[in-house]
Amino acid sequence: MMMDPPGYQLEMYCQHGPLMRTSLGKKNFYLFNHPDAVKEILLTKASSFKKGMAVQNVQKIIGNNLLTLEGKDHAQKRKILSKVFSKTYISDFEDVITSHINQKISQMPSEGTLELKSFCSEISMELISLMLFGTPVSKEVQAIEKTIHNGLSLIYMMNIPGNKFFMKLPLPFIQKFKQSQKELYLIIEQLLNSRQARSSRTYSTIDLLIEAGCNQEEIIEHLIVLFIAGQETTSSALVWLLYSTLTNEMPPEFLLEIRKADSENKKYQDILDYPHIQACILETLRLYPSIWNIGRQAIEDIEIAGYQFKKDDYIAISPFVMQRSPKFFKNPNAFDIKRWIVKDCIITPQKFTYFPFSYGTRNCIGKTLSEVEIFCAIKKIFNSIEFTLKDNKKITISAKMTMAPKQEIWVDFKKYT
Ligand code: HEM
Repeated sequence: MMMDPPGYQLEMYCQHGPLMRTSLGKKNFYLFNHPDAVKEILLTKASSFKKGMAVQNVQKIIGNNLLTLEGKDHAQKRKILSKVFSKTYISDFEDVITSHINQKISQMPSEGTLELKSFCSEISMELISLMLFGTPVSKEVQAIEKTIHNGLSLIYMMNIPGNKFFMKLPLPFIQKFKQSQKELYLIIEQLLNSRQARSSRTYSTIDLLIEAGCNQEEIIEHLIVLFIAGQETTSSALVWLLYSTLTNEMPPEFLLEIRKADSENKKYQDILDYPHIQACILETLRLYPSIWNIGRQAIEDIEIAGYQFKKDDYIAISPFVMQRSPKFFKNPNAFDIKRWIVKDCIITPQKFTYFPFSYGTRNCIGKTLSEVEIFCAIKKIFNSIEFTLKDNKKITISAKMTMAPKQEIWVDFKKYT
């Protein structure tokens, strides 16, 4: 179970059905993987829940932010960030992404070897840096990464009773986190000072947040959230997509669409004209939803899909389990992009069985942006580079906050001339 939590949950679901309970002391933990539960927990009865234990632990370390706040406070933060994700803003940012990926590929040697996870993580790191600060490599984004890395290494401590007391102790790993937090504040302060002294603005989230009147603390809070929520999730989707296309037979239409979309410089708004590209993204996120488990805690006694739950009960629903359920998807463990296409059109799955970006007021605010990033990246990569896996070793899933390949994936690459 500890080795492969999503695989274990799927097995339990197939053996015992949609609802399972386990207890730890006075706490009840449920797994509830049923379309009615998805609908009620995430949408129609969402106000009876707050975020689950993992996010509550993140909150203990990095404080309140969009991910961790509830109710009105959450809505207010979400409104400010919605500007970053507006249609026009994303459409303009798409040109920035495309030109960055073009440049990145042009700087690669004509052939060589690379590790796919690092390659995708680098791309998604550069894209998030471009989005937040308007430049692909920045000391600010490195400082955010360091703070988050040091902070998340404390997360398992947060389940230990008395963790608030621990956080005050001068233990080396706690000091390390606090030091990186201090450095981050200093770096952002310097950046804000230099921006205020300048009249022109760059195309970046930080400038939007300054314009929205956010203070330094709020700006840092938003930057951290966007990094946590947007970097690993996109990197994981990208690496699983590349890996899946290398290990499965792809219909010829997929490459034809890639060639056309890239050579005609098509934008994401035209994705409906490219059903095989769209299906490839859908299928990747079906088998490998970056956020594989969505947790909530009931804030009152509540009935969900005909079952009674008590205040404080934890309930998790899993896109991974539902999207691999043989009840809702034929041959569910196969990567088959054709399942999404009928007569050249994308079909929609049964409601509340496919939800890699969740539903409702807490759904993914970065959904369109991540799809734009993936679309831009894959059309350019597949039309410029040929990858060959160096070996056929089995790749398994490592599921922490996000779902990434556990092993390194080495490939030979050759640029098309
Ligand atoms: C393939 C990529 C991505 C996937 C699969 C994904 C998935 C999700 C999911 C499932 C949630 C909801 C979690 C819950 O209900 O508890 C979420 C929330 C969120 N995502 Fe994404 N995400 C992706 C990319 C991004 C990107 C690129 C950004 C921004 C740069 C982003 C920003 C956020 C934020 C800020 C939230 C919290 C929203 C709120 O609580 O109001 N995500 N994401």
